[in-house]
Amino acid sequence: MTAVEPETAVEITVDGAAVEAHPGEMLIEACERSGTYIPRFCYHSRMSPVGMCRMCLVEVDTGRGFALQPSCMVPVSEGMKVSTESEVTKKAQDGVLEFLLINHPLDCPVCDKGGECPLQDQTMAYGPGETRFVEEKRHFAKPIAISETVYLDRERCILCDRCTRFADEVAGDALIHFMGRGNHTEVNTFPDEPFASYFSGNTVQICPVGALTAAPYRFKARPWDLTETLSTAWVDSLGARVAVQASRNRVLRVLGADADAVNWGWLTDKERFGFEALNSAERLAAPMLRDTADGGVSEWSEAGWGEALDRIAGAVGAAPPERVAVLGGARLNNEAQYMWAKLAKGVIGTDNVDAQLGDGLDPAVVLGLPRATIDDACRSGGTVVLIGPDPKEELGTLYLRLRHAVINDGAKLVEITPVATGLSHLAQHSLRPRPGTTAQLVSALVAAVAGDEFEAGSTGVDRSELEAAAQCLAGADDGVTAVLGRASLAEGAEVVEAAAIELSALPLVRFLPALRRGNVIGALETGLAPELLPGRVRLDGVEDGGPRVEAWPRLPAAAGLDAAGVLRAAARGDIDVLVLVGADPLNDFVDRDLAYRGLRGAGLVVAVDLFMNDSSTLAADIVLPAAGPTECDGTFTNLEGRVSPMSRKVTPPGTARPDWMIAADLAERLEPGSTEGLDSPESIRAELAQVSEVHASLTEEALNASPVEGVLLARPGATGEAGGWRRSGRPTMGRSPVGRTEPATGPAGREDPPEEAPEGAFLLVATRTMYDDGTMLRHCESSRGLAPAASARINPADLDSSGLDEGAAVRVVSDFGHIEATLTADGRVPAGSLRVNWLAPGAPANALIAAGTDVTVVEVEAR
Ligand code: SF4
Ligand code: SF4
Ligand code: FES
Repeated sequence: MTAVEPETAVEITVDGAAVEAHPGEMLIEACERSGTYIPRFCYHSRMSPVGMCRMCLVEVDTGRGFALQPSCMVPVSEGMKVSTESEVTKKAQDGVLEFLLINHPLDCPVCDKGGECPLQDQTMAYGPGETRFVEEKRHFAKPIAISETVYLDRERCILCDRCTRFADEVAGDALIHFMGRGNHTEVNTFPDEPFASYFSGNTVQICPVGALTAAPYRFKARPWDLTETLSTAWVDSLGARVAVQASRNRVLRVLGADADAVNWGWLTDKERFGFEALNSAERLAAPMLRDTADGGVSEWSEAGWGEALDRIAGAVGAAPPERVAVLGGARLNNEAQYMWAKLAKGVIGTDNVDAQLGDGLDPAVVLGLPRATIDDACRSGGTVVLIGPDPKEELGTLYLRLRHAVINDGAKLVEITPVATGLSHLAQHSLRPRPGTTAQLVSALVAAVAGDEFEAGSTGVDRSELEAAAQCLAGADDGVTAVLGRASLAEGAEVVEAAAIELSALPLVRFLPALRRGNVIGALETGLAPELLPGRVRLDGVEDGGPRVEAWPRLPAAAGLDAAGVLRAAARGDIDVLVLVGADPLNDFVDRDLAYRGLRGAGLVVAVDLFMNDSSTLAADIVLPAAGPTECDGTFTNLEGRVSPMSRKVTPPGTARPDWMIAADLAERLEPGSTEGLDSPESIRAELAQVSEVHASLTEEALNASPVEGVLLARPGATGEAGGWRRSGRPTMGRSPVGRTEPATGPAGREDPPEEAPEGAFLLVATRTMYDDGTMLRHCESSRGLAPAASARINPADLDSSGLDEGAAVRVVSDFGHIEATLTADGRVPAGSLRVNWLAPGAPANALIAAGTDVTVVEVEAR
């Protein structure tokens, strides 16, 4: 709760004591801040008050005598007197509880909420000692599944309106409603509309009784069996704060923690239920070696850590540094990322390191642009430009914050995306550039904002639409926040990077990177990218006395390759050792064919992971089991550069080890003494803070002082200085961007995008969905069936002219491959474009794309 400003404070009297309150705040909040808790069921500080339950009745006197009023609905006013303990108040609370319990079942011994139930607790504290009600209670069938993960027990529902309000107000998925009248009122879903919301688990967390329960937790434990630790969600780059609860060395529940600067207590169901994968029996539990038996059949056998690490160290030691590569690392915590960066660059001496798998952005852009915080993006009256993925699908909790900002706080949204997003209906302006023309469109937009001449050119956007959006941006006196990422993985990263550079010409613009992979910002900040060292320092800046890497035995002699470069080199047979750290290039890299050839062409392939995935099954020779995010201590850097703790709650399976330990063991084998003193996450953090100026503020004191909000690292441009490269003029993307030392030589080369799709063909848009066929989701029991099947979505007008029928089984074909999908008419896709979902089960969209192409042209054939 924020402190009350003395100049504006309103003075009220609570139970005879003077209390200062914010003007306009609700009485229930003011009392709570002063230490007086008023019981409540329907009130929730993150949602609008509705006064449904009347549990918060207290006596209030505003000058006309005391009267009972619901304190969640009454704003404070000067001189207000409140009595929370009078006989009248107590009788009212007692009466409300008696009424609530009339039809409430006496389920406590078998109810999941038992032991942490506000109804139970408040009945004990404020309720009648016994019931006067002897009639038959109301009965409903119980429980009913209202979605894949949520069960509803209507008998227990007290009609508080929290779940329905959340679904409607916060998530925008109004799929759960009140139905019936009077005594027959119930919460339910309509028969053909299940509660299929990415955010459904939040209703279970905020339901004040056991009416809503989550499939992954039902009957697994009682609250008093659980121990809890505060941690950070790992499934996307938002870094939502969570409470991880476990019993008997098994994580059983993850709840949202209310971090004001980050997630406000909300989580996506993927963040909430993703822990199920960590409990899977298919977790890797021991190092595995693959040997080819007689007849060419490969066989896996378990090995000891010593044998496996010796083999890897032997192969790495025998290879020239430039023939060793490390891909992945966004799954890791900051400490492990630093250790892998140190191992690769400081011990082995290779710069062929990339935590992004062709689905991110140039680190120079991510780390060089002035960065915004989530609060900047969601500030009251602010202006947001979305050049990136659909936040609802990729960064769900950011979507909730942005949605709130637009609906409640007057923020304006200008969307520049190739297809509609979950926020389109709230956007003031939605511009739909033809794939490949985003930078062209942003350039025209910036010129229009400046009042210069501009051409909408071949972007496909009307001049009038562009002018209207420019007017909106021109009116943003306190600057614009750009949410920047990859809207379509079929569009080259350079298109978005060039757009960002164009947009950076706007005054006071800041960028919030909307990269998807878990701790990807941590990976870039610790140097897991080509030409980068920890602390946003370029490798070629060493000679200028830039980085403080005395703790490293050596540095790479030459700039290395990004993921595409590594895979091309591997396909040519130029990579002797390829290490995949939590990476599955076959499914994650933008070009499936190149990933396949690279994996097959690499010498020794080592996978460090939680599970076998498609890439390690195809090509790994050695697999090392890693500890999961709830099994080791460390920290996480979210997309705004906020570092928060990730805490160990349980032990890893078998002999799986934290990733930092694996890197340290390998480093010691290759260079004895190189990790001296690095024997804990704390000691690694201390070295990171010494090596990297950016992490200098990351002290144990700072982390301990802010356990919920975390520590915001120094941000590029935070003091008004623009990012390093931007100060020296507006660079063109013709420079050698970080990590692209090898010219892009995709099959189609880099060409100007076609003005429009050739007759009968479409420009491909490949977008991620919340659920897909990724390795972790495959191992989540309750979510694995939620990945949508492959669909090829085209504009209804295109469907009419295609001669094909809605729902037809089709083959989507590009010059590079094909996938099978169901044809769907979708008005959210502009004419001439075709949208496919990334990594649909059995239909990976990266089979259609070649690395190095900005635009992919596809055709649709009937199957
Ligand atoms: Fe008991 Fe609370 Fe469950 Fe009702 S909701 S049965 S009071 S534990
Ligand atoms: Fe409230 Fe729970 Fe009933 Fe929803 S199901 S109205 S949250 S008691
Ligand atoms: Fe005030 Fe429910 S908490 S009416």
